[in-house]
Amino acid sequence: MAAARHVVALLAQKPDAAIALPTGNTPIGLYRRLAELHEKGQFSCPLARFFNLDEFIGLSPEDPQSYGAFLWRHVFRPLGVNPARLRLLDGTAPDLPAECRRFDQAIAQAGGLDLAILGLGSNGHIAFNEPGSDWNAVTREVVLTEDTRRGQQSSFAREADVPRRALTMGLRTLREARAILLLISGSGKAEAIAAMLRSKPDRNWPITAILDHPRLVILADRALDPARAAGAPSAPSGRGGA
Ligand code: GLP
Repeated sequence: MAAARHVVALLAQKPDAAIALPTGNTPIGLYRRLAELHEKGQFSCPLARFFNLDEFIGLSPEDPQSYGAFLWRHVFRPLGVNPARLRLLDGTAPDLPAECRRFDQAIAQAGGLDLAILGLGSNGHIAFNEPGSDWNAVTREVVLTEDTRRGQQSSFAREADVPRRALTMGLRTLREARAILLLISGSGKAEAIAAMLRSKPDRNWPITAILDHPRLVILADRALDPARAAGAPSAPSGRGGA
């Protein structure tokens, strides 16, 4: 799988790379592949440093519905990551602005992000940077749109249980990452993809904030390939030679 090759290549070149990880359905294939390689003894990352992109306010990393717990289930436990190599946002921190500042300091101390792996929300959000987000924003508290909350419902018993607020890395931090790997899959993303393809900076579509990044690789599901959908021979998905 191309996304896994990308991560393996980065860590071969820079074993202590600082990497920001997404949650959601999209990256699960990548995480599964890394876990398989690890199990076969073909991949390990003892020196890598990991950060989560975002977290719900009110959920601690120990809460099974938190993004921290998701990453433990799908990445850190299967890969045997040492907790000392992680910095996860804590949505239960008593002083949230201080938690955000400490998180940004930890990224700075790691020398900045070598790689931000991102998924795409149906309204064009990346991490939890919702439409209208300031492109200069760093880690902060945000209010989630109803659209985004609906998209999260499958992880909670009822829609009303989906937290209304979250902490997220800002668009500035993501733009400052030395490389970005954007993974796109799943239904309901046609409008966000159309905004991307217009290639016009647009604050209403946060995804457009990263399109001018010099080291952006986009890997999309073949099912999203417009040529394939129209029945024409399929072009390779992705950009930037992943
Ligand atoms: C959430 C996360 C995003 C993720 C998005 C897409 O909103 N905060 O980081 O990209 O979900 O999720 P999925 O991959 O399930 O479509």
